[in-house]
Amino acid sequence: MQIEEKPAHATPFDWIGGEDKVRALVDRFYDLMDLEPGYAALRAAHGSTLADARDKLFWFLCGWLGGPSHYTDRFGHPMLRARHLPFKIGILERDQWLACMAQAMAETAVPQDLAERLKNSFFQTADWMRNQGG
Ligand code: HEM
Repeated sequence: MQIEEKPAHATPFDWIGGEDKVRALVDRFYDLMDLEPGYAALRAAHGSTLADARDKLFWFLCGWLGGPSHYTDRFGHPMLRARHLPFKIGILERDQWLACMAQAMAETAVPQDLAERLKNSFFQTADWMRNQGG
């Protein structure tokens, strides 16, 4: 991923505030997915528990933001599109993922400039994950 960095921060990982902030963001993301009726289609694409997903997205985002490579250390190359093929991902699921992440970033006080850049990058990744037309 290429994110233009703010000069004061070496990486988006530093800018967001390190592992504790990434964990708080991911926890809020999955809490919202569980709680908000507006993300029901996204929640339905997941299994009964979100515990594995929480750990995996946290590990993945640390590396994706330029921090420690927890995910690849454990699982190798992410192959995200291939790993998402078992799940139905259309425009509805994509947009709910992005809205849920935008809400989680706002509620965990991710700096606004950074949040805007991340939204663009998340859109590219989520759109590439689509495996259904609708
Ligand atoms: C576009 C809508 C998306 C849907 C519906 C979706 C859904 C899912 C589901 C159902 C899982 C399995 C969770 C589990 O193991 O219990 C998963 C795993 C995962 N997702 Fe997504 N996802 C989406 C977008 C994204 C995006 C944009 C990212 C990254 C920025 C991402 C990163 C991950 C990662 C790292 C895993 C763990 C993969 C593994 O090692 O098994 N997902 N996702």
